[in-house]
Amino acid sequence: MDARYQQIARQLKAAITSGELKTGSRLPSSRTWAQENGISRTTVEQAYGELVAQGWLERRGQAGTFVSQTSPLAVAAAPVAQSGNEHEPKPFQMGLPALDLFPRALWARLTGRRLRTQSRFDLTLGDPAGEAILRQAIADYLRFSRSIECQPEQIFITSGYAQSMSLILQTLASPGDGMWVEDPGFPLISPAIDREGVQRLPVPVDQNGMDIDAAMHRWPQARFALLTPAHQSPLGVALSLPRRRQVLAWAARNSAWIIEDDYDSEFRYHGRPLPPLKSLDAPQRVIYTGTFSKSLFPALRTAWIAVPAAQVAAFRQRINSSQCSVPTLWQYALADFIQQGHFWRHLKKMRLHYAQRREWLEAALMQYGFNVVPQNGGIQLVVEIDGDDKSIVARAQQRGLAVQALSDWHITQPGRSGLLMSFTNLTSAEMARQWVAQLYAAKNKTP
Ligand SMILES: Cc1ncc(COP(=O)(O)O)c(C=O)c1O
Repeated sequence: MDARYQQIARQLKAAITSGELKTGSRLPSSRTWAQENGISRTTVEQAYGELVAQGWLERRGQAGTFVSQTSPLAVAAAPVAQSGNEHEPKPFQMGLPALDLFPRALWARLTGRRLRTQSRFDLTLGDPAGEAILRQAIADYLRFSRSIECQPEQIFITSGYAQSMSLILQTLASPGDGMWVEDPGFPLISPAIDREGVQRLPVPVDQNGMDIDAAMHRWPQARFALLTPAHQSPLGVALSLPRRRQVLAWAARNSAWIIEDDYDSEFRYHGRPLPPLKSLDAPQRVIYTGTFSKSLFPALRTAWIAVPAAQVAAFRQRINSSQCSVPTLWQYALADFIQQGHFWRHLKKMRLHYAQRREWLEAALMQYGFNVVPQNGGIQLVVEIDGDDKSIVARAQQRGLAVQALSDWHITQPGRSGLLMSFTNLTSAEMARQWVAQLYAAKNKTP
């Protein structure tokens, strides 16, 4: 029979081979392991020693004992190791800001400083609605940048648009309520609406945004209207001022709610932006949803809603039965980022870069005969296509391009055909030309 230390060594080796214990992970100290398992420390030391001798583990002095970077398994796996990072964006990939331009060193400094200066009281649960310092920073940003007057109490922090939608509907909706939604529109929010038993009522979008006349005519009983007024997602058009007034008047008359998804309004390259619905909201019927996913980065998982003052108590009651899903440390660092002026600087810089990147992509698309739909802002483009966009997209995807078919964003079929694509992670005119050449080949079925 094996000695005890050999059994331990065998168990450890099995855990490394199965991937349960990853390369580079730190093992508990022999003292801790011995105490936890009621065995002698010498036994654990002998097991570690055996595996160090065989190359499975390595000792790094005071830092401890680690699964070796050059363990027999790691060496065997090396030839098939992936070259790129699995999160590296694909050409044209939508929904991402420019990852190369985010000031990561500054972000690391701010989070590091917060981490180092935490007190023991910062280890407790935070406010379920989000930390006051971040809600204040967002209220300031909304006032100066979006002309929206609101108090920090009106802001509720969430982990993203879907959570914002769930919170809104759980607070204000009853099953069976109807919601106007843009057609075509952002498909990924549909499950969050369906989950609350709210019925999606598709409304066509034209060059002035959602057709409010059509909506009032077809679905007069709706209780919600969900809109992307700044840049309609995905067509990029702005909701015209007359329609903004029209939908606000409709909501006031019918005691209905407007949900304004202002996901990327910071990015406008020509002319003055129209005021957000929320800033025109005298009747107090607009719930505003914002996110840092496009203005900073999506892995931050930080978004917010701004609700009318009269609804604060209802939202507060709802949120108090849960916890804020954004870690408090993250919230503090983000508040510092905004309050120290880095957010404004970053947005200003990004507008310049995005205008440039968009120009590169537009020029390359035009060079290859694609027809780009004109639009004033946003971080994606629409290209018109005659005929079947889905088959072009399928061929493009085989070439590793992440374009999407406009017809897939339609609720009622058949919809307009087109290609949806982003330019944010495109870093040169030459890269734009290469991507578009691939797209052209996919469109024309050339090998
Ligand atoms: C139309 C639209 N709204 C909102 C969002 C924000 O989503 P989140 O905050 O969950 O990242 C996105 C992200 O892609 C979007 O495209």
